[in-house]
This record gives sequence, C-alpha cells and structure tokens, in this order.
Amino acid sequence: MSEEKVKGPTTTGHVWDDDLQELTNPLPRWWIWGFYITFVFTVVYWLFYPAWPIGSGFTKGVPGLNSITYTATTVDGKEVEKTTHWNMRSKYMVEMNELHAAQKQWFDKVAATPYEDVAKDADLMQFVNSAGKTLFSDNCAPCHQAGGQGKIGFSPNLTDDHWQYGGTYEEISHTIVAGRQGYMPPFKEVLKDEQIGQLANYVLSMSGEPHDAAAATAGAALFQSETAACYYCHGADAKGRTQMGSANLTDKIWLWADIPAEKTAEAKVDAVKKIISGGLARGVMPYWNERLKPEQIKLLTVYVHDGLGGGK
Ligand code: HEC
Ligand code: HEC
Repeated sequence: MSEEKVKGPTTTGHVWDDDLQELTNPLPRWWIWGFYITFVFTVVYWLFYPAWPIGSGFTKGVPGLNSITYTATTVDGKEVEKTTHWNMRSKYMVEMNELHAAQKQWFDKVAATPYEDVAKDADLMQFVNSAGKTLFSDNCAPCHQAGGQGKIGFSPNLTDDHWQYGGTYEEISHTIVAGRQGYMPPFKEVLKDEQIGQLANYVLSMSGEPHDAAAATAGAALFQSETAACYYCHGADAKGRTQMGSANLTDKIWLWADIPAEKTAEAKVDAVKKIISGGLARGVMPYWNERLKPEQIKLLTVYVHDGLGGGK
C-alpha cells in the first residue's frame, strides 16, 4: 500500500481518531483588520477619555485633547470657570449653561416687552407657557395645584375670571411681588347669634343658595348698618374690594367654605355663620420679590394672566 499524499489545504500534521486533522489556513483578512482597528480604537479612546483604572483613580486622557471648560456657581454664589478632563458631569454642565444662555435671551425679551405685546406674540407665549409651567410647578403648585385650579379652604382658583385682588397684569404682578393676606375680623363678640344667622342667610341669598327669606332681609339691613359694617370691606354692592381682597359675596365662588358641597340648608347656614363669627386670617399668599428674579415674576404674571387664562 503506497502512501498517498493528501492534496488540498495544508495541515499541522497531527491526526486524531484516524482522520481528524488541524488546518493551518491564514485568518480571514476582514478578521485581521477588525482586530487592528479595535486596537487603534483603544489607543485613541485612551487618549481622549477616562479609561484604565489605576489604584483608586483612573487614567483621565491627555489634558488639552479632551478638556472641558464650563462656568460653575460656587456655594456662596460666585461664578467660576472650571476646566476638567472629559466626563459626563462637565458635559452636562456645558449643556445646561448653553440652555440657560438660550433661556436668558427669551427672559430678556419678555422683560423688555409690554405685557399686552407678550400675550400677542405667539413665539414669546410658547416660551412663557413652557418656562411658566416649570416655575409655577416649582413655586406655586404646592398651594394652587398643578393646573392653578386651587382648593377650597386653602387657595384660590387662578384659572377662573374671578379675582379677589384684581386680575389685571399690574394687580397680579403686585400680588406675586408683595404677597397678600386677607383679613376679616371675628364678629362673635360684636353680633348676637341670631344676627349672624340673618347675615348668613343674606350672603346665601346672594349666591342663589337656599335661605330663609325673612332672615335674609334682616341680614341685608345689618350688612349695610354700622353695627356689622360688612359693607365697609365688601362694598355696599357686596362685590368685594380688590385693594383688600374682600371676597365677592354675590357670585357662586367660595374660597373658605365649601357651600355648594354642604348637603342641607342648615349646614350651609352653619358654615357661613362659622366664617362670620370666627373671622378669617388664614389665607397667606407669600411674597416672592426676594425669592424670584423680576423677569421670572413678569413671566409668571403673564403665565397666570394668559397661560392659565381668566386674566382681565
Ligand atoms: C403657601 C401657599 C401659596 C403659595 C406657595 C402661593 N400662593 Fe398664591 N395664594 C395663596 C393664598 C392662600 C391666596 C389667597 C390669599 C387671600 O385670600 O388673602 C393666594 C392668592 C394668589 C393670587 C390672587 C388671586 C386673586 O383672586 O386675586 C394670585 C394671582 C396668586 N396667589 C398667584 C401665585 C403665584 C404665581 C404663586 C407662585 C409664585 C403663588 N401664588 C404661590 C397661597 C399660595
Ligand atoms: C375688615 C374687612 C372686612 C369686614 C368688616 C368684613 N369682611 Fe368678610 N371678608 C373680608 C376679607 C378680606 C375676606 C377674604 C379673606 C381671604 O380670602 O383671605 C372676607 C371673606 C368673607 C367671606 C368668605 C367668602 C368666601 O368666598 O369664602 C364671607 C362669607 C364674608 N366675608 C362675609 C362677611 C360678612 C357677612 C361681614 C359683616 C358681618 C363681613 N364679611 C365683614 C373682609 C371683611
């Protein structure tokens, strides 16, 4: 039996299990190149980005090739320039600064434009609505709720066209800058329980709620009298005075007593009596002139007036 040489691919010469051999073909070209490219990539990556761990630190890339410079604000409010190696935090800072710079241009535009013209400018209003929403949810929504609809017994609704302190731009701005605190004195020492009941019936009659007509007539006279002197704050027409935020008693809007929710006529009378005898010193609208910048207050004013709607 002559030994025949196997033609075909070269092998390492080892044979297992009779016919199992190991080829010595070169690696495919694409594979070799892929290998070189990953190697080059590693070196380039290592030059530009944080890469190898060493001890408790890591290689930071070559300074100058990958430095990021950004402006940061220190704890005591100073602005400082910082240069660091490439890292996610610095990259984020750079993007935030760019965003703030872009925002500032819009804030400046709002600040320089009269209220009425801001409301007419579609681009400006788009900015007012998005920046206003953020400012409102950060500062105002805890009390006035996310949509500004308020909560009976806690804070007024800013989306309706009823304004205790006035709904013009100037009045809304003044409310935000200086804050508001409505005050109504208690009447339990001044008036008899029967008189307080008559006044309550009169107030209910003005809002179209169930009431005792005779008591309401007596209440109307008391309202205008010097004994109770309700007219002094709420006005002879009971529509309220915006300078002191005395509520309009002739509409169906209630802030401090949820009259529509009370089930019986007696419960409604009792709820209003409680306000008249105890007075009101609950509603504190904080002042914002130290916490917000003037351009933020202006933007919020337009947001409340036109974004939430209902401004006058
Ligand atoms: C701590 C709770 C609280 C926060 C926070 C708050 N408010 Fe008020 N706000 C009130 C209360 C309570 C009143 C009603 C005051 C009153 O009846 O005397 C009020 C009244 C107002 C009014 C007047 C409404 C009217 O009918 O005239 C406006 C406008 C207003 N707030 C806007 C804002 C804006 C804008 C912010 C955010 C910058 C804000 N409020 C933050 C509680 C708050
Ligand atoms: C010194 C001024 C003052 C006098 C006097 C006064 N009020 Fe008021 N009243 C207010 C103010 C201000 C408010 C709103 C308080 C707030 O929102 O913080 C108010 C609120 C009310 C409310 C609640 C309205 C609501 O929406 O919940 C009723 C009811 C009311 N007054 C009735 C009377 C009656 C009746 C008298 C007369 C006995 C009277 N008030 C006298 C200032 C006054």
